[in-house]
Order: sequence, then structure tokens, then C-alpha cells
Amino acid sequence: MGSPHWKRLCLLLLAGLTSSLLLYGHYYATMESPTSQRIIANLLQPEPLVLDPPGTSHRAGSRSGTFEGSSGSVKSFKPSTELKEPKPTRKQPSPCLHSVMARAKADPKFGKMFRFDIPVLMWDQHFTPETWDRLKTRHVPYGWQGLPYTVVGSTLRQLNTSANRHLFDRETFPGGCVRCAVVGNGGILNGSRQGKAIDEHDLVFRINGAIIKGFEEDVGTKISFYGFTVNTMKNSLIAYGEYGFTQIPQGKDLRYIFIPSDFRDYVMLKSAIQGSPVPEGSDKGDKPQKYFGPEASAEKFKLLHPDFLQYLTARFLRSELLNTQYSSLYMPSTGALMLLTALHTCDQVSAYGFITSNYEQFSDHYYELEKKPLMFYANHDMMLEAELWRGLHRAGIMTLYQR
Ligand SMILES: *[C@@H]1O[C@H](CO)[C@@H](O)[C@H](O)[C@H]1NC(C)=O
Ligand SMILES: *[C@@H]1O[C@H](CO)[C@@H](O)[C@H](O)[C@H]1NC(C)=O
Repeated sequence: MGSPHWKRLCLLLLAGLTSSLLLYGHYYATMESPTSQRIIANLLQPEPLVLDPPGTSHRAGSRSGTFEGSSGSVKSFKPSTELKEPKPTRKQPSPCLHSVMARAKADPKFGKMFRFDIPVLMWDQHFTPETWDRLKTRHVPYGWQGLPYTVVGSTLRQLNTSANRHLFDRETFPGGCVRCAVVGNGGILNGSRQGKAIDEHDLVFRINGAIIKGFEEDVGTKISFYGFTVNTMKNSLIAYGEYGFTQIPQGKDLRYIFIPSDFRDYVMLKSAIQGSPVPEGSDKGDKPQKYFGPEASAEKFKLLHPDFLQYLTARFLRSELLNTQYSSLYMPSTGALMLLTALHTCDQVSAYGFITSNYEQFSDHYYELEKKPLMFYANHDMMLEAELWRGLHRAGIMTLYQR
């Protein structure tokens, strides 16, 4: 047993380290490799998260001091003005009882945090000189600093279909109330028997190592969206292969949501739409069909907008880690980004398999054979995420599955 266990631990460490370099909580480790050194060099630049150039702040109706940095400077989202395209998000209140929007607007705290007119996705028309100038000053995932103009431009030019401008088509839901389940991979789902309840939602979001086979009763089978970064996707295949995650979910109706956290995400996205091998970077030679199936077309892929990631981080998950030397390492977890994406696009949202107050009672993931403690990565702030989910649940804005 020694060897497989050792292998599993190493793969898990590798999974975390390629993106986060450091683990805290239960594990401490470092790794030497050209890739990680390059990442360290990129990530440990001294700049803090640039949320807006000074002097351009725009309070967007928020008068609370909640989002101010410790320096007291106002850091909030500056809406992009260059976009003439109709807004991809809903414009009118939905006919749902207790919609996310209605509940959020009625809440004193969350009412000031949510902005439902924020662009969630990015597509070809966003690639303008104004957007380039603005985003090239911010780190990925909040901007395009250090990314070649030609790579960003040629990737965005592929996103030229109407499907790239919205997560889903509201007209396909005549009831007018779109109910979404976002399924994290937490151990709380082991033995939960929530599969049926999950599948009853109109749309189901899954992320990273989302193993379905063998766990249908607990996690369901439906999958409308798979959210990831290329880093988390490939690490999930490595780390969770032994539990059965041997392939990225595929299907005719499945859509992929790219989180643009690195150069490689832009490169992979372009290759995926073109159906051609990745031409450069750390995934050079990879065939995207291996991950996303034979059908390559722009309609299958969505790209989160860097402004949306900035807005989410600034308003919802502004971690204390941003005040440390590791600030540029920090970003919300893949699960957090998908759950917040659902909260900004669906009418009702249920979260399953996300961190709860009693997380210590459960294994890291629902598919582990023996209980393993939840892994904390230095580039995420799971305690802050847990607090946010608790708050949103308490305010009736979403339902957090707890037991
Ligand atoms: C989108 O871009 C592709 C690749 O450049 C092109 O072949 C296609 O005709 C474009 N589609 C639309 C609707 O403009
Ligand atoms: C999953 O649940 C089963 C049955 O409740 C239990 O025996 C098993 O230990 C759990 N697995 C983990 C990894 O906690």
C-alpha cells in the first residue's frame, strides 16, 4: 500500500503546487522545477491586486466601506463603457419567487455588493484598444498583464457566436425561472443521496475533478457546465485519476467555462475552438479533443471576463491574503468562481459539496476511499469562502447544502 499512497500524496501536492506553490493548514511543502520557478517569478511580483488605477474609482452606489483596502483607498469595479452590445445578463427581475436578484437587492449587506449588470463573459467584441489598454495593466486573472496582444486578440476573435455572449439562452426556459445547482466536490456529498435533487435543477454546474460514475445517487448525473482553469483541469486528471476521474466530462449539451487565469488558458481556448493542437506554451502539442471531445466549435466555450473576476474578488472574496507578500498568488477557488457565476446569471441557486462550518467531519472529496482532511492551498482562502456561503444562505440568496 505504501507506493500508491505515496504516489497519491505526491500527485496531490503536485496538483496544488503547480498553481499555489505553498500549502498551509495540514501540509507544508515546496517544489523545485523550471515550471514552478517560472510561476514563482511571475506570481511573487510585489504589486498588490490592482483593482483600479487610482483616481478612477467609481462607487457604483455603494456607500459602505466594506471594500476599501486597509490603506483606505477606494477600490471598486469600474464598469467598462466601451461596450455597445446588449448586456448578457438578465435585465428584468425574473418571475421567480425569491430570486437571487430580489433577495440580494432586499438585503442590506449583499444589496450593496451585487451588481447584476456586470459583464460575466468576454467575447470578440471586447477586444478593443480601450479594453486592451485597461486590462494590460492588471495581473491575470484580473487582466492581461504580460500576455501577448496577438494571443489574446486571436483567442477572443474566435468567440464570435451569440452563444459566447451569454451563459444560457433564457428563451429555452419558458417558465422564466432558471434554477441552477452548482456542485462542488466536497466530502459532504458522500452518502448524501442528493443526486435526484441536483438533477432536478434546470442547469447543473460542475468543476475540476467532478466524478459522476459510481456516485450518481449522491451527486446526480446532469452536467450543463464544466468550469476550470487549464491548470486545475489537468491537475484533476492527474490527482483524481485513481478515483475514476480519467476524462473531462463531455456531452452534446455540455458547455465549458474557461477561467482565464494564465496565458495557457487563452492558448488552449483558441486551440479548442479551432480543433487544432496547442501551438505553444506549457501545453504545447496537446490535442484539445482529448479533453473536450470531437466537436470543436465556438458555441461550446465560454470565457469569464477578467473584469468579472476582479469584481468578484474585490467585493465578495477580498482576502486578507491580499495584504501579504503572496497577494498576487491569491484568487478565489474554481468552485467559488462557478458559484458566483451562477449567482450572477441564474434565478435560483443551490450549492452542493461546498465548504460548510462542520467541514472537519467530512473528507476532502466525496470520492475518497478513506477520510482525508480538507486540503488548504495558499492561493485560496477557504475560510473566507465558507463565511460567504454561510452569509448568502442565511440571507436566503442561495441554498447551501449542509448536514
Ligand atoms: C467566426 O470566426 C470564424 C473564425 O475566424 C469564422 O470562420 C466565422 O465565419 C466567424 N463567424 C461569424 C458568425 O462571424
Ligand atoms: C463515505 O460514506 C461511507 C458510508 O457512509 C463511509 O463508510 C465512508 O467512510 C465515507 N468515506 C469517506 C472518505 O469519508
